[in-house]
Amino acid sequence: MVILITGGAGFIGSNLIHYWLAQNPGDTIVNFDALTYAGNLANLAGVESNPNYHFFQGDLRKQEQLDEVFEQFSIDSVIHLAAESHVDRSINDPSPFIESNIKGTFQLLETARNHWQEDLKDHRFLHVSTDEVYGTLGKEGLFTEQTPFAPNSPYSASKASSDHLVRAWHHTFGMDTLITHCSNNYGPYQFPEKLIPLMIRNCLLGKELPVYGDGLQVRDWLYVEDHCEALDVVFHRGQSGESYNIGGLNEWENLSMVRYICQFMDAELGNSPEQSCLNLIRHIQDRPGHDRRYAIDASKIQNQLGWQPRHQIGEGLEKTMRWYLDHQEWVEQVTSGAYRDYYKHHYGTG
Ligand code: NAD
Ligand code: DAU
Repeated sequence: MVILITGGAGFIGSNLIHYWLAQNPGDTIVNFDALTYAGNLANLAGVESNPNYHFFQGDLRKQEQLDEVFEQFSIDSVIHLAAESHVDRSINDPSPFIESNIKGTFQLLETARNHWQEDLKDHRFLHVSTDEVYGTLGKEGLFTEQTPFAPNSPYSASKASSDHLVRAWHHTFGMDTLITHCSNNYGPYQFPEKLIPLMIRNCLLGKELPVYGDGLQVRDWLYVEDHCEALDVVFHRGQSGESYNIGGLNEWENLSMVRYICQFMDAELGNSPEQSCLNLIRHIQDRPGHDRRYAIDASKIQNQLGWQPRHQIGEGLEKTMRWYLDHQEWVEQVTSGAYRDYYKHHYGTG
């Protein structure tokens, strides 16, 4: 089976490629990625020489590049992760989100449909989406697959739009599609614009730790390898046309998460109480439209497909923090150049 993984040079995509090649050695993976600021081939250094792995630098927005990759590799199936993924950037400039996430998904669906028209039902298209399409929760309740869509940011609205396109391609054209809605991931290779790696990096540099608003917003954290396993299970055993929620049942207030990271880093760096990273925490202006709480009901994937997360949060966080401590050159490399301009523009400090 030749599987096109889009966005394979990003955080989840690169973890998925490592995972997939190890778990499914008979499959060939073609990684289609535009290498935006978030895509980094260093994430894939360990698999470059694997004969079952190919990289194709291409942009979802360029039709001829999509046609070329489908023709060159006779793609059997697609796992679609490529997207602009950072909420704050979508607030600063929504346009790339509309282009890549909506138009890009449309072009990918149409390319697949054209190339598979003889036997459309024999080819799977797994679309990787997010829990953010459901909007925000109050203190109680969980998102189920029946929760109505109510996206609140340009990012989540663009993902919700792409989900609707995938759904329509199943119902109208009979494409064999699947959609997943996952909660917040953490783990190796996550770009340090996202909460956990940003806080780890800033602790190491002795920089302020910017917490939006009161910091009591809640996220449901899942170790990235558990997400990869869930995608494998959905791809192989999911029911055509269905969607599946994926989550860790690990709800944390942001401030508690930042404090936990500080305590770990203090121990690693041998900080005295006066030097503690806790002193670096700064409450700054809240994110506009900030969703208060996400939490996933993952009982459908658990009951129907037998998946559940393997990593306890403490174990996953420790692995993640150690990985960042051991890969400081990677952090340095991906945060050089344009990231520094983004940081200054967004946080108003260097
Ligand atoms: P990421 O930003 O780390 O990686 C995105 C990748 O997509 C990058 O390699 C980038 O170069 C590529 N890309 C962007 N636009 C492209 C285009 N037009 N053409 C080709 N490639 C393009 O993102 P991530 O955190 O790994 O997320 C991957 C997917 O999973 C996204 O679709 C996201 O919505 C979804 N998701 C993420 C999380 C999370 O917590 N990170 C949770 C649930 C769902
Ligand atoms: O829920 C899944 C989503 O999780 C994915 O679809 C997105 O691609 C992914 O980026 C993530 O979105 P969030 O907005 O939840 O993640 P982020 O790491 O940006 O922020 C997590 C929480 O931390 C959120 O409540 C905002 C807060 N935060 C974030 C940053 C970057 C801060 O308080 N300070 C910060 O500097």
